[in-house]
Amino acid sequence: MPGVGRLIEYRSMETIAAISGYYERGGEVDRLSVGRGRLEFLRTRDVLRRLLPAGPARVLDVGGGAGVHARWLAADGYQVRLVDPMPLHVEHAGAIAGVEAVLGDARRLDEADAAYQATLLLGPLYHLPERGDRVTALREAARVTAPGGLVVAATISRYAGLYDTLVRGRYLEPDVRRITDAEVVTGVHEPFDRDLFTLAYFHHPDEIVAEFAEAGLAPATRYAVEGGAWLFADRDGWLEGDERTVALLDAVRSVEQEPSLFGISSHLLTVAVVR
Ligand SMILES: C[S@@+](CC[C@H](N)C(=O)[O-])C[C@H]1O[C@@H](n2cnc3c(N)ncnc32)[C@H](O)[C@@H]1O
Repeated sequence: MPGVGRLIEYRSMETIAAISGYYERGGEVDRLSVGRGRLEFLRTRDVLRRLLPAGPARVLDVGGGAGVHARWLAADGYQVRLVDPMPLHVEHAGAIAGVEAVLGDARRLDEADAAYQATLLLGPLYHLPERGDRVTALREAARVTAPGGLVVAATISRYAGLYDTLVRGRYLEPDVRRITDAEVVTGVHEPFDRDLFTLAYFHHPDEIVAEFAEAGLAPATRYAVEGGAWLFADRDGWLEGDERTVALLDAVRSVEQEPSLFGISSHLLTVAVVR
């Protein structure tokens, strides 16, 4: 099990290499189809559908993974190009009708200036523990987005790991507790279980606004994705697609922009219009 002393080592490592073992196992193909992933999917789609310009428009899905969001975006009429550093993800996404998928890195997009009406970063910022890399990725997103277009970035809450290890009962394990406590302070998520997650950065809700501003993306607006609902004991029962699901989504939407609730949400979407 890695120790907190390895944080410095991770920070200087090539981050893509550090995360590839986790993603090569193929979990992204159906991660968003059940449980907390299903809630993340439904809420992310709900927010994006209200914010994106009407189709057809060109959308760049950076770190789009296996294409879970690209699939519905293409079905909604958007022209979707997906960029991801994992060959397995590009292979899966490229097989979706209407989705063009290529290998690439959010920090160096091989795209023309102002070519898209919206650029999504729904994952890359999780895996860039260096602040400079995250701001570079946001600058690249701004560069390839046309004036008046949107940049949307997802981040994981600084406190998600703490609540997750508590809910799973793993916080009682001394090593997990030590790593989790350090993560609350540093934001760097040290992987302690190869099946749970990989090297990541967990943002304080205010930190992403400052990163957007440094990348020239201000003012930024934030939306809590799950709010506190990902922690419900009977969460999956609320997601069976009946009237309880509708009520849950309505409730989470009604407080999605309440700042005092941002930190309890597992994910946050931050949005800015490119000037
Ligand atoms: C948790 S997955 C999210 C996938 C998808 N966007 C979604 O919302 O379900 C994070 C994705 O970010 C990608 N990623 C990691 N580092 C990246 C980087 N530097 N540039 C672009 N994508 C990156 C990973 O390969 C992975 O597909």
